[in-house]
Amino acid sequence: MYNCALILAAGQGKRIKSNLPKVLHKVCGKEMVNHVIDTMRAAGFEDVNVIIGKGAEKVKSATESRKVSYSLQEEQLGTGHAVLCAADFLRGKKGTVAIFTGDAPLIRPETVDKLIKLHQEQKNSATLLSSIIDNPHGYGRIIRQGEEVLKIVEHKDCTLEELEVKEINAGMYCFDIEDLLASLDKLSNNNAQGEYYLTDVIGILKENHNKVGALPVEFEETIGVNSRAELAVTENILRARINKKHMDNGVTLIDPNTTYIGAEVEIGQDTIIYPNNIIEGNTVIGSDCILYPNSRINCSIIEDEVSIQSSVILESRIGEGTTVGPFAYIRPESVIGKKTRIGDFVEIKKSTIGDGTKVSHLTYIGDAEVGKDCNFGCGTVVVNYDGSHKYKTKIGDNVFVGCNTNLVSPVEVQEHSYIAAGSTITKEVPEGSLATARARQVNIEGWVDRKGLLKKKDK
Ligand code: UD1
Ligand code: CA
Repeated sequence: MYNCALILAAGQGKRIKSNLPKVLHKVCGKEMVNHVIDTMRAAGFEDVNVIIGKGAEKVKSATESRKVSYSLQEEQLGTGHAVLCAADFLRGKKGTVAIFTGDAPLIRPETVDKLIKLHQEQKNSATLLSSIIDNPHGYGRIIRQGEEVLKIVEHKDCTLEELEVKEINAGMYCFDIEDLLASLDKLSNNNAQGEYYLTDVIGILKENHNKVGALPVEFEETIGVNSRAELAVTENILRARINKKHMDNGVTLIDPNTTYIGAEVEIGQDTIIYPNNIIEGNTVIGSDCILYPNSRINCSIIEDEVSIQSSVILESRIGEGTTVGPFAYIRPESVIGKKTRIGDFVEIKKSTIGDGTKVSHLTYIGDAEVGKDCNFGCGTVVVNYDGSHKYKTKIGDNVFVGCNTNLVSPVEVQEHSYIAAGSTITKEVPEGSLATARARQVNIEGWVDRKGLLKKKDK
């Protein structure tokens, strides 16, 4: 049987009060519409079409990597009208179309799978996901006669009696493609919102003696995000699910309530994560790492046995057995070797640091290539910028950089050399040499006394 999926993502989402289209708001670091696309793909839907309209270009570029097709709904005249705008995608196809909304990211692939199986087993024209909740405010209500689903009535169109119904429409359906196309032509916008409702298709199918089924599921999976408050609720639920998955995989989270792990992050076994860590993007963390409190790690690769504390690491790679922080800032395109030490108040930018090198305190390294087993004294600065251009610095293996050194780029320090503390290096340092670049010390004896500045010593 042929299956395809439509995702509704053309609305602006007035209630979320944003310049960004609603479906591009992120939940655990991933756009809601991308959660839905990924779920459909995980449920086995290859052919996915996204209906775009408000902020179409933004939605397109945010979903580009997912390789979906698009239909354009220029004017947002309702969810039924949105599906009509995808008629070109549906026409000529025989089989099942799953229609899901781009603003409900908590639906699980297993549930999508159950829905489509039920739909095809029962040979229905339409099968919808529903949920039974205490406060159905705002949702479309499922109106039944006995067991049978008769129609869906939108909250704003409900009679007092219908408002009492606790079974709501999740906005997630399977339709027989031909039956759906035939019913869409019969939609009208004669309702409280003056919109063409997709939900009216259910009543139309029933009137034409088609079979309609419903699959009630846990409410959590059906939550639609219309406001910032619902966005936060959704974030909390997804975060708990993500954290549970990592714990099930053998990761220790000291306090899951204050651990923020993005939807795409991977973490190896026996890694321990303390509170207030934020791990984002496509970050991959190895095994046996310890993330002490208060770091943010974005789109980075952290190899095994790394320890990190109170630091920020962006788009970089940290080698096995390295320790980072507290208070280190590792900026994009940095590659830190194995068993290195990046200590307190150290900033690394677009640089490579070789295996075994120690940059322990109060140092800036930018646009540099640093070899293996070097030691940086406290307060080293790579002077990579002259006010208009950035330059590169190259440091060979086994270099010892004394405290408070400036390395004025472009400059090369060759291997096995030493730099005296307080030097300002502007020229190449040849292999195996000691470079001193500071004024010599002069002592003027008796100067304090002659100036009458000597304080009387206590008797
Ligand atoms: C919709 C359902 C309601 C259900 C609820 C579940 C209708 C008429 N109502 O209501 O029964 O209980 O979802 O969350 O379908 N969209 C378009 N084009 C449009 C209008 C909307 O693409 O012209 C998209 C939106 O971007 C959104 C989705 O459809 O992703 C749902 O629209 P929304 O306005 O949030 O519908 P609800 O009022 O929540
Ligand atoms: Ca909604």
